[in-house]
Amino acid sequence: NSVKAFAPATVANVSCGFDILGFAIDAMGDQVEVRDRNQPGLVVVSIEGDEGRLPYEVEKNTCAVAIQAMLDELGKEVGLEIYLKKGLPLGSGMGSSAASAVAALVAANRLLGEPFEKKQLLPFAMQAEKVACGAGHADNVAPSLLGGFVLIRDYHPLDVIKLHVPEGLFCTLLHPHFELKTADSRSVLRDTVSLKHSTIQSGNVAGLVAGLFQEDFDLIGRSLRDVIAEPYRATLIPGFYEVKEAVKSAGALGMGISGSGPTLFALSKGKETVQTIIDAAQQVYDSIGLGVDAY
Ligand code: HSE
Repeated sequence: NSVKAFAPATVANVSCGFDILGFAIDAMGDQVEVRDRNQPGLVVVSIEGDEGRLPYEVEKNTCAVAIQAMLDELGKEVGLEIYLKKGLPLGSGMGSSAASAVAALVAANRLLGEPFEKKQLLPFAMQAEKVACGAGHADNVAPSLLGGFVLIRDYHPLDVIKLHVPEGLFCTLLHPHFELKTADSRSVLRDTVSLKHSTIQSGNVAGLVAGLFQEDFDLIGRSLRDVIAEPYRATLIPGFYEVKEAVKSAGALGMGISGSGPTLFALSKGKETVQTIIDAAQQVYDSIGLGVDAY
């Protein structure tokens, strides 16, 4: 028997919600096929679309780590083969490792007769994130698994809430041609946040959540502010403030770093402004000599 599953790219943080907000992208993602194997143990059989860079070792491969965590919880000795097709670039900030882990879990869970409900798969996917980047954050795996816009209200115990997504909310992704490892992008952050910044940040998280439920696009845009991670991470992303300026002038509600970068995300109301946003960003990237893909 075999089962194939797809899991989408995600934008984590969404500016103000460091490690607690994320949404799924209705476009690209990763695909994993899991097949029965006639002897116990996990094997990563093939990985396509990664230019030979992802590990096959069961302890390092995010698909295998996630499935192993699930099997440990089940206390079952089963044999499974993993076939991964990457649709997402590595080190891009689009939740590439999360999509692989989630697709693997969904496929394996189905193959085993769905012993777990969807939400119960989250901790297994978080273990894979921990191996991939050193931090078991859930703001990519949760939206990749559940779809839509997701809030992680708490990690201990895990409390994941699906938020409303207004009709007509569009996201443009700008992926400059270089890689940034999440571990590196986390290492520039500070351990402490001032009272002043904590006030600003919570105001924006609340504003963003209210904006989504009230379908208030201006409020959503105003709330895309991050005083905790963005100031430090922007230094790792050439042209960040210029692109922000340009896409806002082009009609975006707001812009921020997608997850740990270097991909940037811009939100807009309706589809009309999307091409204008891409053109405006392209001009800035051209001027600094950096290639970019836009989705
Ligand atoms: N919340 C995580 C971070 C997302 O910002 O490091 C990584 O994609």
